[in-house]
Amino acid sequence: MSLDDAKRNAAAAALEFVEDGMTLGLGTGSTAAFFVEFLADEIADGLLIKAVPTSETTRRQADAYGIPLIPVEHVERIHLTVDGADEIDPNANLIKGGGGALLREKIIANASDLMVVIADASKSVDVLGQFPLPVEVTPFGFTITAKKVFDALRQTGVARPGVRLREQASGGKPFLTDGKNYILDCKCGSIPNPLETAAALANIPGVVEHGLFLNMARTVILGDDEGAEILEFES
Ligand code: A5P
Repeated sequence: MSLDDAKRNAAAAALEFVEDGMTLGLGTGSTAAFFVEFLADEIADGLLIKAVPTSETTRRQADAYGIPLIPVEHVERIHLTVDGADEIDPNANLIKGGGGALLREKIIANASDLMVVIADASKSVDVLGQFPLPVEVTPFGFTITAKKVFDALRQTGVARPGVRLREQASGGKPFLTDGKNYILDCKCGSIPNPLETAAALANIPGVVEHGLFLNMARTVILGDDEGAEILEFES
């Protein structure tokens, strides 16, 4: 299976949820980038929408494609957010933040009438946790916060957590989010109690946000070589 074809097929299928007059949340990552590309084609063909990006990377891409953007402060209602995911479980719970945009992604998804997740089918898992869980933390006190994160993971059933500060691809320096925070990538193997883990992480001073997106996605589109499958979930 070509991953890019699978991502493209998932992204293309999400266009059916877009209608004239909508304000859209634009996700971040390689799959969301395909959606932004396809959306730009639709706009060139006359589609009328406004959008709010979930990262500086997506803002630059959308700007370059001429997609009308509105500052998040001016947004009154977001009808639909289309975003990727790192893992998707059978209840449409997600791990997100592989690209480091989890905070803005969660703010925008949570404010949206509908979140549609687009992904290649390999992102579908039985239990969340194979993909390291990103946790955004303040630089101040991050080693203390990292210990608390480790404890929270253990106490909520993660057998042998590993907590690692994300570094820039060029090496050496900590990776910085758009909000100038750090990311702890937490090796979990399996997260048996996502709700408990999410609550425990949210309770730690210094944790800005974590990458568990629980009960947020109502539609998941899984792409493969051939096309895309659209899965709907109860709210
Ligand atoms: C960005 O922070 C992430 O949440 C992405 O949406 C996620 O990592 C999926 O990215 P890909 O579509 O590149 O796999």
